[in-house]
This record gives sequence, C-alpha cells and structure tokens, in this order.
Amino acid sequence: MSDHELRVSKIRNGTVIDHVEGGQALNVLAILGIDGSEGLGVSVVMNVPSDRLGRKDVVKVEDRELSQSEVDVLSLIAPEATINIIREFEVAEKNRVTRPDSVSGVLSCPNRNCITNAGEPVETRFDVVADGVRCDYCSTILRTDIAEHIDV
Ligand code: CTP
Ligand code: ZN
Repeated sequence: MSDHELRVSKIRNGTVIDHVEGGQALNVLAILGIDGSEGLGVSVVMNVPSDRLGRKDVVKVEDRELSQSEVDVLSLIAPEATINIIREFEVAEKNRVTRPDSVSGVLSCPNRNCITNAGEPVETRFDVVADGVRCDYCSTILRTDIAEHIDV
C-alpha cells in the first residue's frame, strides 16, 4: 500500500460490514441504532473504489455483533454486503447477507390507517418483493425509504 492510499485501522474485536452499496453507510448505522452516543468505536468509509460494486462503503463497529433481524434489514439496503466478525484481529466469520422472504417486527408501516398503527397487538410484517418490501396488512410498498421506517 502506498503513502497515497488511506488506511483505516484494523479492529481487534467487533463487526466489519463490507461491500455496502456506496452512500448507504449512514443508513447502516441507523439500522444498527448507532448514533455515536453509545461510545462504541465506529469507522465509516464511504464511496471508495471496489472491483465488485464500483463504489462501496465499509462500516466497522468495535465490540458489537449484529442480531439476525438487524442483518435481515441490512440485506434490504445492502444486498451485496459481507458481514465479518472479528476476534483478536482475525476474521473469525465471514457471511454474505441473504434477502429474507419477509421481515416481522422490524419495520413500521407508513400508512396511518394500517391496522399495525391502530394500537392493536399486531406485529408488523413485510414481504420482500422485487422493488422493495410490502406490508402484509395494507399492501403499502416501501422502496427507497426503508431505513426511515426501522423500528428495532
Ligand atoms: N478487517 C478489520 N480488522 C481486522 C480484520 C479485517 O477491519 N482485524 C476488515 C478488512 O479491512 C476488510 C474486512 O474486514 O474490510 C474483511 O477482511 P478480509 O477478509 O481480510 O479482507 P478481504 O479478503 O479483502 O475480504 P473479501 O474477500 O470479503 O473482500
Ligand atoms: Zn400497512
């Protein structure tokens, strides 16, 4: 690596979310509920060249692993992402995200008249469709604004 390249430090323990679609890193942090106030070490790299994606973002979160529901929602905005679990500086696990068939209890429906917004004990459920996610109850489709409706 030459002096002209920027190197972001390796981390000792935590999670590296790699191959995130360029420009989505801040939405990744929103999905993880990270805003900096937790005191976790977080590194964000945005729009760096990638052979596979053209441009990619990378998010490194120290001392934190991800839940399956977080990974499910991540897959919707970063379908090519790789989740690397780091332990004592080594990549202990590397997994590609997979798009789930549906996500339950993690997204809120933007339709105010939807049964899921009526104060009833109904868990939200969205089916993953080609162009976004579709509410099971009212068929409202969330497309680009998925990250704004996360409720984890
Ligand atoms: N990484 C890190 N800290 C470590 C080890 C790895 O931050 N202690 C980061 C690397 O910088 C990289 C990602 O975790 O962004 C995956 O590491 P590695 O598997 O070594 O890299 P690649 O082989 O390039 O990964 P891939 O094949 O998934 O592209
Ligand atoms: Zn709905």
